Amino acid sequence: MPNLSLFPDVAAELKQLRSEINYHNNRYHTLDDPQISDAEYDRLLQKLKTLETQYPELITPDSPTQRVGATPLSEFVTVVHEMPMLSLDNAFSDDDLIAFNKRVQDRLKSVDEIEFACEVKLDGLAVSLLYRDGILVRGATRGDGTNGEDITQNVRTIGSIPLRLLGENFPQILEVRGEIYMPKAGFNKFNEKALAAGEKLFINPRNAAAGSLRQLDARITAIRPLEMCAYSVGLVEGFTEENKLPNCHTDILAALGSWGFLINRELKVAHNIDECLEYYRTIQLKRSDLAYDIDGIVFKVNSRKLQEELGFISRAPRWAIAYKFPAQEETTILLDVEFQVGRTGAVTPVARLQPVFVGGVTVSNATLHNRDEINRLGVKIGDTVIVLRAGDVIPKILAVIESKRPADARDIIFPEHCPVCGSKVETVPGEAVARCDGGLICAAQRKEAIKHFVSRKAMNVEGLGDKLVEQLVDLALINNLADIYKLTREQLANLERMGEKSADNILAALDVSKKTTLAKFIYALGIREVGESTARNFAKAYGTFEAFAGSDELGLQQVPDVGPVVAHFVFEFFQQENNRLAIEQLKAAGIYWPDEIAGMVDLPLAGLTYVLTGTLEALDRDDAKAHLLALGAKVSGSVSAKTNYVVAGPGAGSKLQKAEELGIKILSEADLLALFTQHGLTQHEQT
Ligand code: IVH
Repeated sequence: MPNLSLFPDVAAELKQLRSEINYHNNRYHTLDDPQISDAEYDRLLQKLKTLETQYPELITPDSPTQRVGATPLSEFVTVVHEMPMLSLDNAFSDDDLIAFNKRVQDRLKSVDEIEFACEVKLDGLAVSLLYRDGILVRGATRGDGTNGEDITQNVRTIGSIPLRLLGENFPQILEVRGEIYMPKAGFNKFNEKALAAGEKLFINPRNAAAGSLRQLDARITAIRPLEMCAYSVGLVEGFTEENKLPNCHTDILAALGSWGFLINRELKVAHNIDECLEYYRTIQLKRSDLAYDIDGIVFKVNSRKLQEELGFISRAPRWAIAYKFPAQEETTILLDVEFQVGRTGAVTPVARLQPVFVGGVTVSNATLHNRDEINRLGVKIGDTVIVLRAGDVIPKILAVIESKRPADARDIIFPEHCPVCGSKVETVPGEAVARCDGGLICAAQRKEAIKHFVSRKAMNVEGLGDKLVEQLVDLALINNLADIYKLTREQLANLERMGEKSADNILAALDVSKKTTLAKFIYALGIREVGESTARNFAKAYGTFEAFAGSDELGLQQVPDVGPVVAHFVFEFFQQENNRLAIEQLKAAGIYWPDEIAGMVDLPLAGLTYVLTGTLEALDRDDAKAHLLALGAKVSGSVSAKTNYVVAGPGAGSKLQKAEELGIKILSEADLLALFTQHGLTQHEQT
């Protein structure tokens, strides 16, 4: 211990600086509510570093400058846990959970309803953190529950782990237990960088967290985006009579929160088992919107007294249970690979899998994206693979289990000719995607172009679904976009599973679709790289279709967010005779858009940029976006200094944080609804 009395002023200044930095560190990492900008925080840290360089004898291990050690370890030392780190019993159905509740009530000889703490089950790694007199002295993995590994150097680098506890009222010895995990956004960013650098990718956030903690060199852990969330205490000693461990689990978590730990925001108290089931369903619905992976819900009897009465059975407490969600990852066999041709001719390899139940559904296909992805995975036909199906996204292959590769596994051969029309498949140098160069000669591209043209966000022809479009193209009743407006009642009524009534409905829907907007029409054409927002920019910039179609590449690049690539695709599109002809025919069929330009500049939200983040509960996200756009606002996917408003719902994470840092106005969903109402959108139109 340095003799502080030699430098009383400096020592006091250091103490003050450290406590200020610890406070802001907690606001940022744990409370997700920073009060100063990153730059100001960096200035404080820099000031501390400078002072510590002048007075190295005054550096303490809990100083915020001491998170990253410089000397790698040669091995991890084994740690014996003071109290074993137990695991949890699992429930896989509502009945299992109800049976758990009954066991608890029976054992307590209680007819009263039991209060449970409901927590998400974070999918990371369990960790034990030991604090003596408020200073972090050891971090350890769970290991086999009795012996773990000392990962103190690594846990010290994690911003949401306090090196020194905040406040005063903590016990002399405190062991905090929780989960270390990598949030999804950090994981994706990390893998994107690794992919660009040609490095090995992590399979999922859990493996990424495990790999990051298993580093002997903590400087590597320090640059991995890890978080830690506290969920219980282990050894606790040295509380005073007036100041003791709270009586229920949720109050213990609140105390941990006050000492600087991150406590998961989804924590709730349920007053009976029905409320537990309701919690399970609510979280299951928002699972894919959460910023981190979870694999179930943990229910814990809230009262510590009841917990003690219930005790333990083998290696798990009788007072807690993990109700697992259906797995989102499973292993299965890759039976074959087929090649699908998309709207723009992109040839996509699709894995045909031995059907497997994953993410709540039976999956028999998964995307393999492109040739690079096949090479990266090193996958062959016949391999055992890990499939991910999370939320509503298309299932994908995460990894190959090479040890299970059969002797007769076959290489995946990319076709040289289009499997649909036989045209050549071209790969543009520098592009991962291979494309059929058949254009609209290719029935697959024709089908996809028409499906896109009639889709909801394009011409919105109700009732003209994918299957029907395929039938119409196969029967050569439609060969180009304009043909859909030439369909007759007789042609439609004669189709399989179609009566006269349905035929009339489709004809009526086709008629309604003719009145559109310039932006939707441009989007509907399916020009490569021209999505909804770019189409809108073109419509705004040019005002008339003729001006847009006649512009040259340089002119097109003057439009916001349009670069040379998009400009080139647009220009090329209008150079093609068949496209010009189809457009003439569409206009002749009666497609029109009322003049909207005059109104556009005056739209109430013109010039404002909104970002939507987190879950919207009353509104569909696409609808909310469409309403904002209709009112003239721009809707962006990321927060920047140009953002005017961020609409944040439950589960909002890094975008909300950034908005707060930048001092951007935050709106709730209720504010958004009020805004829509104010601008004349009725409740019915909104939802
Ligand atoms: S409580 C005795 N709470 O799940 C109670 N565990 O299968 C021990 N986990 O190893 C754990 N989130 O790593 C608890 N909110 C949570 C949790 C949680 C994730 C993990 C933990 C543990 C495993 C138990």
